[in-house]
Amino acid sequence: MRKVEIFDTTLRDGEQSPGVNLNTLEKLEIAKQLERLGIDVIEAGFPAASRGDLESVQLIANTVKNSSVTGLARAHQKDIDAAWEALKQSAEPRIHVFLATSPIHREFKLKMSKDEVVERAVEAVKYAKEKFPKVQFSAEDACRTEPEFLARVTEAVIKAGASVVNIPDTVGYITPKEIKELFLYLRNNVPNIDQAILSAHCHDDLGMATANSLAAIEGGAGQVEGTINGIGERAGNVALEEVAVALYIRNDFYKATTNMKLDEIKRTSNLVSKLTGMIVPANKAVIGDNAFAHESGIHQDGVLKEKTTYEIITPELIGVKSNKLVLGKLSGRHAFKNKAIELGFDLVDEKLNEAFQAFKDLADKKKEITDEDLFSILADKQTEAADVSHYELNSIQVQYGTENIPTATISATLPNGTEVTEAATGSGSVEAIYNTLERLLDEPVKLHDYKINSVSAGRDALAEVYVRIKHKGIETSGRGTAQDVLEASARAYLNAVNRVLTLEAQQLEVQKAHI
Ligand code: KIV
Ligand code: ZN
Repeated sequence: MRKVEIFDTTLRDGEQSPGVNLNTLEKLEIAKQLERLGIDVIEAGFPAASRGDLESVQLIANTVKNSSVTGLARAHQKDIDAAWEALKQSAEPRIHVFLATSPIHREFKLKMSKDEVVERAVEAVKYAKEKFPKVQFSAEDACRTEPEFLARVTEAVIKAGASVVNIPDTVGYITPKEIKELFLYLRNNVPNIDQAILSAHCHDDLGMATANSLAAIEGGAGQVEGTINGIGERAGNVALEEVAVALYIRNDFYKATTNMKLDEIKRTSNLVSKLTGMIVPANKAVIGDNAFAHESGIHQDGVLKEKTTYEIITPELIGVKSNKLVLGKLSGRHAFKNKAIELGFDLVDEKLNEAFQAFKDLADKKKEITDEDLFSILADKQTEAADVSHYELNSIQVQYGTENIPTATISATLPNGTEVTEAATGSGSVEAIYNTLERLLDEPVKLHDYKINSVSAGRDALAEVYVRIKHKGIETSGRGTAQDVLEASARAYLNAVNRVLTLEAQQLEVQKAHI
């Protein structure tokens, strides 16, 4: 049986989704889960982009042991040097160098001739190979590149030392028939192709990313790149869970397997969705909430008689567990710790105690505590430390009535440690809260997006709010969880402001380093 390697770029291409901005601990938590999922290669970031990116790639490379960790680099020495600094301690240092090859990119972006592109690609791969045992080269916009030229570049970079050549469909343009033919063409026309693996990297602009990735496998791709939940630039990347489950369910056709542990898919999807704020649509293939729901009478009748009439994927296959009650008001710390481990969290004592306290507080107010509630509490605690709490919410009071002007009064601690109380009005309760919080800041905040989601079902469910803001010229996202939607709204806003301040501090550091 052929084995297809899975290369995950959730933390690099996925993080390029508009408004997604993960802190270092969130990235680490996702990387650890990708390792548990059995991902072969984790692209942890773009080390040359900023000091913060470099440090998070480094932290992931030094933590993850069972997956290979890689970082992206343009075909420049300084990018390759930054990637080496981030990855040199990792178990299997691997770099991902890219350069565009298509006529559009050559003419308008790079202003380089074909010969110059080949020369630069070869030079970069040779330089990378002096440091890294494993070099992957990507021909950006490969699927709109002349096949003969793509074959020439592929042959040249393999000769220079690349052992993986990635063929991205950067703009999601190709069709399944064409990509299969392109891979077959490369396999038949690159003389040294047996010294490298060909890889597919499909974007979903025309909704064909999964079909294209599977067609590339038919054409001989030995590696598929994508993201969890298909997040990424524009319409996103291929959803890796779809590729892996398709290979499993239609093994009779594709005759290929992956190392992915399919029963870790649901947890991975939930974690990525929670930490990025990119909510998975209910009808999304494989992981959507409705993927296993049978609504019509005819389907329900069929499934009751024989599941396989309408069900080709079982919930258990991807690790969906029934939403059973888990812990209650009287549960102790020991039971809580066991449950945290069962849910895949490994918190240090201090964080575990804080999470336990949050659970106790919730159990006082909420009748049924579900796995989803605990997952939300634990993920928040596990990932919150990286955002130094510059501003902290102490208390909030909102007055609302259909005949009154909504008014919020908020007490908060400022970055210098002083506690202040402010009040303001708005046309709605959330606006009143945001107007009040803005008074605490020295510059205005532009709210670009606001989303609310309930963590589990029921009237007393936890609320999760996601915001996207622009403050001090920096655009970022924030999230807040609370049982009350207004408190969750305030927490999400302050979380985003705190992230801006962290990013601002990192940018200052980068500037200082350049002086
Ligand atoms: O889509 C793309 O071309 C990429 C490359 C950098 C691999 O993400
Ligand atoms: Zn991409």
